[in-house]
Amino acid sequence: MVVDKDMHKDNFIFKNKELYCEGVRVADIAKEVGTPFYLYSYKALVDRFNEIKSAFKEVYPVICFSMKSNNNIAVLKALVDKGAGLDIVSGGELKKALMAECPAERIVFASVGKTSDEIISAIKAGILFFNVESIAELEEINILAERLGKKVQVVLRINPDVEAATHDAIKTGTLEKKFGIDLMNAYKIFMSKDTYPSLKLSGIHIHIGSQITSIRPFVSAIKKTVAFIDRLKKDGICLEYFDIGGGFGIRYKDEKLQPVSKFAAAIIPYLKKAGLKIVIEPGRFIAGNAGIFVTSVLYFKDNGVKKFFIVDGSMSELIRPSLYSAYHKIIPVKETTVKKIKVDVVGPVCESGDFLGKDRLLPELDKGQLLAVMSAGAYGYVMASNYNMRPRPAEVMVKGNRFDIVRRRESFKDLIKTEKIPEFLKDENS
Ligand code: LLP
Repeated sequence: MVVDKDMHKDNFIFKNKELYCEGVRVADIAKEVGTPFYLYSYKALVDRFNEIKSAFKEVYPVICFSMKSNNNIAVLKALVDKGAGLDIVSGGELKKALMAECPAERIVFASVGKTSDEIISAIKAGILFFNVESIAELEEINILAERLGKKVQVVLRINPDVEAATHDAIKTGTLEKKFGIDLMNAYKIFMSKDTYPSLKLSGIHIHIGSQITSIRPFVSAIKKTVAFIDRLKKDGICLEYFDIGGGFGIRYKDEKLQPVSKFAAAIIPYLKKAGLKIVIEPGRFIAGNAGIFVTSVLYFKDNGVKKFFIVDGSMSELIRPSLYSAYHKIIPVKETTVKKIKVDVVGPVCESGDFLGKDRLLPELDKGQLLAVMSAGAYGYVMASNYNMRPRPAEVMVKGNRFDIVRRRESFKDLIKTEKIPEFLKDENS
């Protein structure tokens, strides 16, 4: 029995009143792995990748999955094997991208603060291009490329100064933000490109923000950028790449969203006009609804004013509700007809801001019963911390009727292994 069409699409479905991920009962995984844990559907990941690929097929894009959203090596491998490239932001992500056997010519590197070591590693690996975010960085890459005797391809990340309707912390495309280069400076750079003999300035990059659910800001940013590309062409600067970034929003509640094909249809005419090779960097769109976070109830508490389910998952494992007031749907893993009550779902961490959901209507659950926090596949595990000395949770992937632990839960030993007590604290006379 399928209870929710959209859930079915993401391969999290109810059968006989129990939540399944593809062909595996979530409760069976919990029994083996313990809680809390993240759970990913292989099929949902690949389906979303194919959905965006087919939406943009007219412009043959290179789709570089934004691995900051989910860098589990199994997730990367699944997508890379289907032809995805990767959008990276650090030397660590570069190493992991290569471990997942992503061909270097499908890797793009954006970050406002690349260190010289990171730049050198990426030049040596032979990535497709650097997305450069300042004049100082351009100069640095030029010097390092010259030292290595390489001609390095870069695209300029411009800041189109377009407001995207999303949470302020994840808006990037206005001049109040640290990202990209304003159009005036970008123009000057292109006109003086001979100042950087070891660089091939071959494109433009934009990324206006994340979780964007309205087509309008995308279109205005792209229109503005295409006009800029045209102006450069008239001045004799011909480019090769247009990297349109990521940002496609997903469903967290029950909101009705435009399918990505509608976004594509609105943008494609402009992309064709630009006539360049297209790169797209979706993260959340591919991973967000392909993952859930599973936690179990520890205690119930009623203080006369509020009722709480205290669960074993917290802001340390999933910080989005605490950090951005983000809404994630929470559902019991076993459907029940038990009376529903209004509760806050909170974790054990010593902060009032530690919650996964507020004022949710949930059945009265007993200790040990499981809850699934939905749409947790992007910016979930990757933003987890060890706050309150909590081990980071396990990650599990399901493919068909099989599942595997794709990252084991941290142990106490893992948490303590980089620390030491110095000799001077051991010395009684000091
Ligand atoms: N490209 C660039 C240059 C980016 O900065 C980002 C995300 C992406 C692509 C991927 O964006 P997506 O398709 O996933 O929207 N932690 C926040 C989201 C931060 C997004 C950072 N940049 C959250 O949990 O909502």
